Amino acid sequence: TGYITLDDGYGNTGSCRSAITYIDGDAGILRYRGIPIEDIAGRSSFVETAWLVIFGELPNVEQRDHFAGLLSESAMIDEVMRKHFNAFPQTAPPMAILSAMINTLSAHDAGVTDIRDDADMERAAAVLISKVRTIAAAAYKASIGEPLVYPRYDLKYAENFLHMMFSVPYRQYEATPEVAAALNLFLMLHADHEQNCSTSTVRMVGSSKANLFASCAAGVCALWGPLHGGANVAAVQMLQQIHDSGMPVDEFVRKVKNKDDGVKLMGFGHRVYKNFDPRSRILKKAVDDVLAQLEKTDPLLDIARELETAALEDDYFVDRKLYPNVDFYSGILLRAIGIPLEMFTVMFAIGRMPGWIANWKEINEDPKGRIYRPRQVYVGPTDVKWRPRDER
Ligand code: CMC
Repeated sequence: TGYITLDDGYGNTGSCRSAITYIDGDAGILRYRGIPIEDIAGRSSFVETAWLVIFGELPNVEQRDHFAGLLSESAMIDEVMRKHFNAFPQTAPPMAILSAMINTLSAHDAGVTDIRDDADMERAAAVLISKVRTIAAAAYKASIGEPLVYPRYDLKYAENFLHMMFSVPYRQYEATPEVAAALNLFLMLHADHEQNCSTSTVRMVGSSKANLFASCAAGVCALWGPLHGGANVAAVQMLQQIHDSGMPVDEFVRKVKNKDDGVKLMGFGHRVYKNFDPRSRILKKAVDDVLAQLEKTDPLLDIARELETAALEDDYFVDRKLYPNVDFYSGILLRAIGIPLEMFTVMFAIGRMPGWIANWKEINEDPKGRIYRPRQVYVGPTDVKWRPRDER
């Protein structure tokens, strides 16, 4: 079978050619379609960023309005899907519900997955980005035993999500501009990140010509793990434990360095960024601004800041080039706008949807696209005799 090159964890293997997201890990650069995220943050909405990531350029007014219109009209999920929500136990993790329900969409919206031209692609992207938000909010409502809230067609993307999350039959939730802006920023900063674990998963599944919805449902599963999207939950749990136990930050850092019980500094380290993660810089500042605007304080922010300072002065972290990643401060932003901890990774999934869609689109439009099929280095036995059951 010839010689196979082993690259553990694909640390140095390019799996594809892509024109979507550019990262220079040494310089801390992240660009969507060539545009630095620092220029997009705070200027573009998530919807505009989604279009940019998926279709390759900033939308003009007409394109933007058309896409926003498709998002609004796609917000409702099929009424019979409510039965699925009722069938999950109340304790079901929202990520389990999200992945299952995205897959279910390909049953209810079957026609939308038949993508033949740009217009079909735009509609499918809008359906997915819009409905994932409705599903996420419905999963949350199911988890707290409240009735599902229908989307409102007059609200923008972020505002509509917050309405479905927090409105109750006797009170409509109206997001303030500050809260909506913070949510837009969070989503936009998560919109794509080249060949990370979940995006590679989406491409892997999509390479077999599986439909867009099935491929993105697989992406949700990959994102769930604590080394990937689940790190935003793990990071806040870590900060909360330090807070509740009263453990000095230095002592926690010592535990991490000693690798006691495999303790890691969650929200730190990255396969590609070896200097700083630009998303973390933006978020660190945004957290300050948002808390000030909302006239809130968060004791976990103080602990996070202390941890960052302690780690950045410590040889263990310096030698390994470990810096705060996107998940270190994002949870504090989500807490500030009232998103509960169990929804954090779901929020990441909503934000990452444009990147998954763009990557699925890219491989499906590649005329030379081949099915993804890595090789392995086999290390098991090669010549074992079969034995009858009574001889084993
Ligand atoms: N805390 C303590 N030590 C760490 C950490 C950390 N957060 N991250 C890496 N290390 C150590 C690791 O133990 C290893 O040490 P040694 O050389 O002594 O064995 C060295 O640094 C290299 O780490 P690695 O595990 O080979 O690095 P990787 O590129 O395979 O993993 C990572 C990258 C992000 C999974 C890892 O840094 C990690 O587990 N971080 C914590 C989880 C986290 O925050 N994940 C979010 C990543 S960013 C957003 C996303 O993808 O969702």
